[in-house]
Amino acid sequence: MKNAFLVLCLFFISINALTDERGTSMEITKVLIPAAGYGTRWLPFTKTIPKEMAPLLNKPALQLIVEECVQGGLTDCCIIVNEDKKAIKDYFSPDQKLEKALKQVGKADFLDGINGLISQTDFHYFDQPEMKGLAHALQMARSYINNEYFGVALPDMFFLQEESAIGQMIAIARKYRCTVISIEEVPEDQIHAYGAVKIRQKINDDLVELDDIVEKPKNAQEAPSLFAITGRYVFPPAIFDAIDAIAPQVQGEIQLTDAITHLAHNGHKVLAYRFKSKCFDTGRPPGWLAANLFLGLNSEQYGAQVQAILKEYCS
Ligand code: G1P
Repeated sequence: MKNAFLVLCLFFISINALTDERGTSMEITKVLIPAAGYGTRWLPFTKTIPKEMAPLLNKPALQLIVEECVQGGLTDCCIIVNEDKKAIKDYFSPDQKLEKALKQVGKADFLDGINGLISQTDFHYFDQPEMKGLAHALQMARSYINNEYFGVALPDMFFLQEESAIGQMIAIARKYRCTVISIEEVPEDQIHAYGAVKIRQKINDDLVELDDIVEKPKNAQEAPSLFAITGRYVFPPAIFDAIDAIAPQVQGEIQLTDAITHLAHNGHKVLAYRFKSKCFDTGRPPGWLAANLFLGLNSEQYGAQVQAILKEYCS
């Protein structure tokens, strides 16, 4: 009897450990990856190829993002696309014809990595027919999210981490039972490209509580700090109601940053986490090039060659 009571207590404690104070599940297995944009910063390349398929060494950027998510326990991967992004759906599907051809030439194992990822992940696709901003993109997958926290990963931010970046944020969300977003300090002349956060209070060296966000401030003077949002988020489903509650910007776009501020101003704690290691903004050519150089230099296969090339061109 005593034992049964103990087991029951442990059962309730373990259930409670995976919900927040509102009873929202913190199991966190789903991630939304917005990939429907036109990729205008990358034209003309993006005329026919989705920017998410631009290579970082020998993998499309999007594969590295999915790998980060799966490593962080987010194996239910919802990609928000449009009708021109067929290449993404094809990439994350098995290709029997290619497999057969590779087998005939003794290269059957060349697809092992991507096929392994495909078999570990549940892919779902949601269409975003009109480009009305990041918050609007997330709304396209709203029906798939139950009363549960979920991750959001922007495919044009790439983190160099041994441990999954979004996985670290999930651990923080569970510990503090609240929303977590990623930030990084950027130089003054770059803050205009990002959402800049206003800090309410410091929790520790890597973690602050957020008060407000200014999306794409005109310059450093207009920014509340030089801490920029770097494209990883862990949200409760209340973010969808916050999106409903905010007005679109003048250009008709519904900004995710406005919805996050709405949460922070309406009784939801929002924490901002600063990763220790480097984040590359691969959505812009210089950041993409920097990520490729870094990966190249650190690659077992190509490192020495890339070093020699740099020496030749930089001397
Ligand atoms: C979006 C967000 C912005 C964030 C940035 C990170 O902007 O709106 O707050 O800092 O991603 O990449 P976008 O790059 O889509 O213009």
